[in-house]
Amino acid sequence: MADDELEGLLSEQIAYYRTRAHEYDATYPLDAQADADARAQLLTELEALAPYGRVLELACGTGQWTVELARHATTVTTVDAAPEALAICRQRVGAAHVHLVEADLFTWRPRERYDFVFFSAWLSHVPPQRFDDFWGLVADCLAPGGRVFVIDELPAVAVVEHPAPGRSAPAVRRVVGSGQAFRAVKVLYAPDELRARLDTLGWNTDVRTVGWRFFSASLRRG
Ligand SMILES: C[S@@+](CC[C@H](N)C(=O)[O-])C[C@H]1O[C@@H](n2cnc3c(N)ncnc32)[C@H](O)[C@@H]1O
Repeated sequence: MADDELEGLLSEQIAYYRTRAHEYDATYPLDAQADADARAQLLTELEALAPYGRVLELACGTGQWTVELARHATTVTTVDAAPEALAICRQRVGAAHVHLVEADLFTWRPRERYDFVFFSAWLSHVPPQRFDDFWGLVADCLAPGGRVFVIDELPAVAVVEHPAPGRSAPAVRRVVGSGQAFRAVKVLYAPDELRARLDTLGWNTDVRTVGWRFFSASLRRG
């Protein structure tokens, strides 16, 4: 029963991003002037990690970060469940070395190993009971010596969210431009809590706060 409820919530989360794909870039906080400094800092951190070689991006959305990854990587493979977002990503990046995959990350399995795995604004959409399995997937995606870089939001962002009923996972209510409302999973980790949880899963994690809203995390297998 709880499983059915969780599956329903995860389907609604995909429907939300499919419906709002065309308005995502105009409304996502990293595009707002107030967060321009945060984006610049995050980009500097990403580039300092030199994301060369085979790069995998999970939940790429409209490609706001894919375009940055594509500058350095030998190949970029991006995975997202929303074809509407992937279409925008393709228009934005559209390079022969960028491969877009439409798939559900809760069932997708990698066909190869990657030197660098990146995801932004995705970890907070992973339900707590899928956290360990998700990080198992990330480990399975990594080539020996591979690195991971994660961007997501801090608990402070709860003040601008609207909690939604969800028996299976923490959820928020999101409304698209047409007025249609959806629920999405939203789990906000404090840096120390995230580091401790990942430590128990065998990751070496360096977490930094970026402005009031974001954190970045660099990880390697321990
Ligand atoms: C907040 S957006 C992040 C997009 C992009 N990474 C960014 O930072 O702009 C979350 C993305 O997760 C994708 N998504 C939601 N559920 C998914 C699932 N089960 N499998 C794959 N992608 C999913 C959505 O389609 C959406 O593009």
